[in-house]
Amino acid sequence: MDSLEIKGGNALRGEITISGAKNAALPLLAAALMTTDKLVLENVPRLADTLSMEGLLRHLGVAVTRDHETVTMSGGANSFDAPYDLVTKMRASVLVLGPLLARYGEARVSLPGGCAIGTRPVDLHIRAMQALGAVVELADGYIQARARKGLQGGRIMFPMVSVGGTENALMAAVLAKGESEIVNAAREPEITDLADCLNAMGAQISGHGTDTITVQGVDTLHAATHRVVADRIEAGTFAIAAVMTQGDLVLRGARDRHLDALLAVLRETGASIESQPGIIHIKSNGRPRAADITTDPFPGFPTDLQAQFMAMMCIADGSSHISETIFENRFMHVPELLRMGADIKVNGGTALVRGRASLTPAPVMATDLRASVSLVLAALATTGTSTVSRIYHLERGYSDLETKLGNCGAELCRIKA
Ligand code: UD1
Repeated sequence: MDSLEIKGGNALRGEITISGAKNAALPLLAAALMTTDKLVLENVPRLADTLSMEGLLRHLGVAVTRDHETVTMSGGANSFDAPYDLVTKMRASVLVLGPLLARYGEARVSLPGGCAIGTRPVDLHIRAMQALGAVVELADGYIQARARKGLQGGRIMFPMVSVGGTENALMAAVLAKGESEIVNAAREPEITDLADCLNAMGAQISGHGTDTITVQGVDTLHAATHRVVADRIEAGTFAIAAVMTQGDLVLRGARDRHLDALLAVLRETGASIESQPGIIHIKSNGRPRAADITTDPFPGFPTDLQAQFMAMMCIADGSSHISETIFENRFMHVPELLRMGADIKVNGGTALVRGRASLTPAPVMATDLRASVSLVLAALATTGTSTVSRIYHLERGYSDLETKLGNCGAELCRIKA
C-alpha cells in the first residue's frame, strides 16, 4: 500500500481547478440504467469509486466507454444482480436499486454492510421502494426487490434526511406510474444535479433543491448529455488547506453557494474570501481563530468536511466544539491527529479541540476518505516531514491530489509499497 511523504510548512499559493463531484457522478452513472439510449456524462472524475460504478454498470450489461473525463453509456441492463464483491467495494453501489427496479421491475442488490464511519443501514432506501409498490425481501445478504407490473407513484416520507435514499427514491419515481411526492428529501446540490440530468432525459421532476420533490412518472427516458457539477467537498478541502497554511488559493469551478456554511465559518476564523461565478479566492495571513461547528444535512455544515475542519482547529487560536450529527463513529481521524500532538477530547458525538500553536510531524495512518485528507492537511501545516500511509482511501475521492497540491507549493512524495 502506497504512502505519502509530506514536508510541511509551505504556504499554498496558486490556482486549483476543481473536479466533478464524486457524489454527484455516482448516482448519475447509475441513471444510465434507466434508458437504452445514450447518456453522456462530462466532467466525471477518474476515481476509484467512479471506476467501481462503471465496472458495476458493465457487469449489469451497460456499454460503458470513458474518454478522459467523459463517460458514454448505452444499451441498458441485461442482468439485475449487483453482487456482494462489487457492492462491498463501494457502498454507493446500492444506487442501482431504484433504477433497475423502475426500468426492469426487478433488482437483486447485495446489502452493503458496515463501513469505517458507522453501520450505515439502507432501510430508508428499501422503504422508499416499498412506498412505490415494490415487494422487497432480504435474503442471503441481498435485497431482492420486484414490481411485476411496474412501480406505482406514491408518497415517500423520509423520517430522517438521506442523500442516497432520496437519490434512489427519485430515480425509481421517475419511471413509476403517476405522481410521487418525496417528503423530507435531501437538498444537497448532488440531488439537484441528478434531477437536472433526469429532466434532460425526459423526466418530470420539480421541487428538487427543496425538501419536497414532486415527480410525474413518464414511460421512458431518452438520450442526454450532462456535465457533472463541481465537487464542493474537494473545493472545501482546498479552502481549509489555504487557511491552515496561511496561503492564497484561487479555486476554479467552485460554486460559493454550495459552500455557504463552510465559507461563513472560515470568515469567522479570519480568512478573507472573495467569490465570483465559478471562482472562490481564499487567503489568510495569520493563525486561524477557533470556531464551533455542527454537521447537518445541506445547507448545514457538511459531515464530509468535518475531519478537515478539525485538523484546522488543532492549530487554531482558542478552543472549538465540533459536533457530528450525521454519522456515529466519524472521529476516526482523532487518534491520528493526537499522534501529531493535537489536544482533542471526544465525548459522544462532540469533540473539544484546544488549538496548539503547531503540530509535530509523525507517521499517521488513514482510515477513511475524509479522515485521510485531514491528515494530509495537518501534515501540510506542520514544519517537518510526516508520512500518511494507506492513501488508497484518498484515491476514492480526490482526483490528482498530489499534482494539484504540488503545483501550489506543497512538497509531497508518493512512496510505493
Ligand atoms: C452520502 C455521501 C457521503 C456523505 C453523506 C451525508 C454519496 C455517495 N455519499 O452518503 O459522502 O457523508 O451522504 O452527507 O453521496 N441512514 C439510515 N438508513 C438509510 C440511509 C441512511 O439510517 O437507509 C442514515 C445514515 O446511517 C446516516 C444518515 O442516515 O446516519 C445520513 O446518511 P445518507 O445521507 O443516506 O448518506 P449516504 O447517502 O450514504
